[in-house]
Amino acid sequence: MTDMTNDDRVLIFDTTLRDGEQSPGATMTHNEKLEIAGMLDAMGVDIIEAGFPIASEGDFAAVSEIAKNAENAVICGLARAKAMDIDRCWEAVQHARRPRIHTFIGTSPLHRAIPDLTMDEMADVIHHTVTHARNLCDNVQWSPMDATRTEWDYLCRVIEIAIKAGATTINIPDTVGYTAPRESADLIRRLIETVPGADGVVFATHCHNDLGMATANSLAAVDAGARQIECTINGLGERAGNTALEEVVMALKVRHDIMPYRTGIDTTKIMNISRRVAAVSGFPVQYNKAIVGKNAFAHESGIHQDGMLKNAETFEIMRPEDVGLSETSLVMGKHSGRAALRAKLEDLGYELGDNQLKDVFVRFKELADRKKEVYDDDLLTLMRDAAADSGHDRIQVKFLRVICGTEAPQSADLTLTIDGVDHQVTATGDGPVDATFNAVKALFPHGGRLQLYQVHAVTEGTDAQATVSVRMEEDGKIATGQSSDTDTVVASAKAYVNALNRLLVRREKSKPGEDIKTVSYRDAN
Ligand code: KIV
Ligand code: ZN
Repeated sequence: MTDMTNDDRVLIFDTTLRDGEQSPGATMTHNEKLEIAGMLDAMGVDIIEAGFPIASEGDFAAVSEIAKNAENAVICGLARAKAMDIDRCWEAVQHARRPRIHTFIGTSPLHRAIPDLTMDEMADVIHHTVTHARNLCDNVQWSPMDATRTEWDYLCRVIEIAIKAGATTINIPDTVGYTAPRESADLIRRLIETVPGADGVVFATHCHNDLGMATANSLAAVDAGARQIECTINGLGERAGNTALEEVVMALKVRHDIMPYRTGIDTTKIMNISRRVAAVSGFPVQYNKAIVGKNAFAHESGIHQDGMLKNAETFEIMRPEDVGLSETSLVMGKHSGRAALRAKLEDLGYELGDNQLKDVFVRFKELADRKKEVYDDDLLTLMRDAAADSGHDRIQVKFLRVICGTEAPQSADLTLTIDGVDHQVTATGDGPVDATFNAVKALFPHGGRLQLYQVHAVTEGTDAQATVSVRMEEDGKIATGQSSDTDTVVASAKAYVNALNRLLVRREKSKPGEDIKTVSYRDAN
């Protein structure tokens, strides 16, 4: 049977590119999705949910290309319980060496009420859609959305129908993050004991983190017999997010004594992918986030440092190297050469061609001139900005000078290159950042509404780079921009322009005829 596992092997199903990317503002570009998929494949993720092919031409193209490129992972696409969704999904994933169709429908009373289907009618839809999917692909996952709030008898009935129709994986979503560990375990255990045919399929757990219990609920489900965990890098996802991949994987590794299960994940690749997902999604990782937070391995207090020096195990239950954190993050200064930079970037997961290295080296030298010490985080930020600038953005920041101080108003003298032509303006505002944003608007009028403006320091010290994230919304389309600089206002201008460029791309893409339409998995029923 497809994907059946040994007793102790837990499959890791990553949905960063589908459930994670659906989080408002976390939209990734086509190339960013390909890059993340490549990293997921390389780190040993078993199944990559690459997107929702019917949702847009962009989603379709990304899923198809990820499917073509994948080396080991099963590539899965999401489809509502509709033949046209399932066909489109198959069109995209069929190129994979190991394709999977994931189809779903909301089965709880609240979800059933939306299409106004009776229980019998919905059961019929499930039978037909899973049969249809299985006729196309021998690897089919079925999910009763909002399973944890679905009546027990009905849940058993529809799962049995899906298994009989050919589903090979049954996923049990806790769509609204409502369940708790004991209940999560009981539900999986009872389903496996009760539903005819359950022993021939893999049961999966898909938890959301609304009550902060997603990791605990997923692990409890595994203890009860689930053998696939659905998760995202950094716990990215709508509202409070999904189960964090790094948390479940490291919990299973560190506490193997009480949870004797294995995953196929190379945990030393965790930090790099976490940083990349944070960068491309525009969702920074909280400092004290388990496993991947900046402070997760920092031991600042005197007592801790003393203990750590004597014996690292005093306060450390896992080694930083286990998640891919190098022992020292101090890298280089302005005298470091190209070979050293290449070696360091390789260490951080980047393999650069000669031309790319040339460009990055110029940026590195500029940064090292302004900043005495260049850390890993600085280099990762630099790589992100280099990738963002390598596209053919319509708008670029050419020159910026601000006048600020205790006397209002502050002013910004800005030159933007728009479609290859320079335009200059001086604008005022309530502070230097406001003045700068007003200047951008004066040069390139637009209807984008600023939803988020966030600044954080990449490293310590007054010469640290600031990373600025900007989220903009226009007609329901959301775009996030990021940029870093030792000057916070310059970083702000570039992040704002970056978000604007992305918004323009999205505007172009959604012109009539170029996009099927935007559907969401929330429109399931
Ligand atoms: O949370 C959820 O129910 C989902 C389904 C589409 C599996 O993401
Ligand atoms: Zn979900």
